[in-house]
Amino acid sequence: QTRPAPRRVLVAGNWKMHHDHLETIRTLQELGLRLPEGASSRVEVVVHPPFTDLRSAQTTIEDRGLPLVLGAQHCYHQDAGAFTGEVAPPMLARLGVRYVLVGHSERRRLFGQDDQQVAATLQAIRRHGMVPVLCVGETEEERAAGATEERLAAQLTAALAGLDGEAVSALVVAYEPVWAIGTGQTATPEDAQAACAFIRGRLVEAHGPEAAAVRLLYGGSVTPETTLELLRGRDVDGLLVGGASLRADSFAAIVQAAM
Ligand code: G3P
Repeated sequence: QTRPAPRRVLVAGNWKMHHDHLETIRTLQELGLRLPEGASSRVEVVVHPPFTDLRSAQTTIEDRGLPLVLGAQHCYHQDAGAFTGEVAPPMLARLGVRYVLVGHSERRRLFGQDDQQVAATLQAIRRHGMVPVLCVGETEEERAAGATEERLAAQLTAALAGLDGEAVSALVVAYEPVWAIGTGQTATPEDAQAACAFIRGRLVEAHGPEAAAVRLLYGGSVTPETTLELLRGRDVDGLLVGGASLRADSFAAIVQAAM
């Protein structure tokens, strides 16, 4: 399959359950000071803080004119109703959220999110004009068994059933091998590229040639030091960063390396 012309790199920080709203304001302000001049023309920088921080983050970004885009880490697939503790997609859209993670391995593993819920949530995010960031990836055991591609294909098929190529092209898919998340064990640039190439090929095969324009991220123990090499992969369009996105200095260093 052919990959479209080079596009702006996407660097997203998933803060997971870190930073209260005051820490978020401080971190964003510092990030604003540290981001290299002209960064936003080369790199789209997204932050995914916890739900309770979104309003503060949105206000800080807007008030200071920061070159940052707002993301969320999760949402429910219904628009409203008796779902105690959940947050609906239109609530996020109303706050200026543009990207929403779905199917992160921590949601799947710790909170029992299954393929059906991933698919329904992805559709709900799209319905409200936001961009789903679909996370897929194999476990250590699947990798050892040589089942990486099989696992990725199964996750993609389940999450994206019924979408045409154009719809797929508007998505972001993050390849996050479970064994690389929070372990300090980054995938090699070759492995990240191979998995992303497989994902792009698979999406084109299943959804048609337009799907080639989908943006693919690598995530799993990304650091400022590994950024440049990972982004050399021709199918790696960006990075989804966990731990190294929590501090403004290291996240800004990743953005700098991605420029
Ligand atoms: O979503 C990002 C993530 O799961 C990777 O986390 O801490 O390994 O960069 P980390």
